[in-house]
Amino acid sequence: MQINKDNLPIFDSHAHFDDKAFEGDLSAVVNEMKANGVVGVINNAVNYTSAKKCIDLANRYDIFYSAVGVHPEDLYDGEDFNPQKLIPFIDHPKTLAIGEIGLDYHWDTHPAEVQKKWFKDQLDFAAQVNLPVIIHDREAHNDTLEILKKHKPNGVLHCFSGSNEMAKEILKLGMYIGIGGVVTFKNAKKLVEVVKELPLDRLLLETDAPYLSPEPFRGKRCQSDLIYFTAERVAEIKGITTKQVLEASLNNIKTLFNKIK
Ligand code: NI
Repeated sequence: MQINKDNLPIFDSHAHFDDKAFEGDLSAVVNEMKANGVVGVINNAVNYTSAKKCIDLANRYDIFYSAVGVHPEDLYDGEDFNPQKLIPFIDHPKTLAIGEIGLDYHWDTHPAEVQKKWFKDQLDFAAQVNLPVIIHDREAHNDTLEILKKHKPNGVLHCFSGSNEMAKEILKLGMYIGIGGVVTFKNAKKLVEVVKELPLDRLLLETDAPYLSPEPFRGKRCQSDLIYFTAERVAEIKGITTKQVLEASLNNIKTLFNKIK
């Protein structure tokens, strides 16, 4: 399928190509994405094993970069965060961030207090190794904001699902806001309001592939070239061109993740 016919450069700030959804045909998917203008993708680890896989993918494919960290749904029961498990990956030239880390009260797989401890410990670790962070916040807006205000990390709140008021607080902290396929959904009223007011220099485009395909592919396996449809919708909301949106996101990604050459 040919999308992005002008071949504008697409950089996906958040994906999971180590997911088993891509096991059978990853090289074909990578080739198709490159043909459709994808120049970079940050694979976000969800646990220590996934971190190793994301590094392996970055070694194997030129467009892949990695973020390493433990996702709130993937915490290790009865254990604290162990920085030694991530240290081997930190100096890799394509490790751009600590992620994805944060809080998830929707699935509630682990008690809030345990999630908060892992989140704070990983924020401290990111500060120590001087890397930005990629934050997951699902139905945990208040606690996420409270922790971010205290730690003041450099980073992005991915797949933003909060209110306009929360977006403004995040911007005050100097952080970026990740916008994905959800903005194309019919029921995305709150997110549309956020995008309307979001300064272009704070917006990062993302997929969260294999999840959250934008319309008209909602429900299908997602891949990074589909960002084109998200960019089109953002452009429509802001009354600018798709090219402007893709360019702004690319510039912001390079500013935030400054190890990208
Ligand atoms: Ni994710």
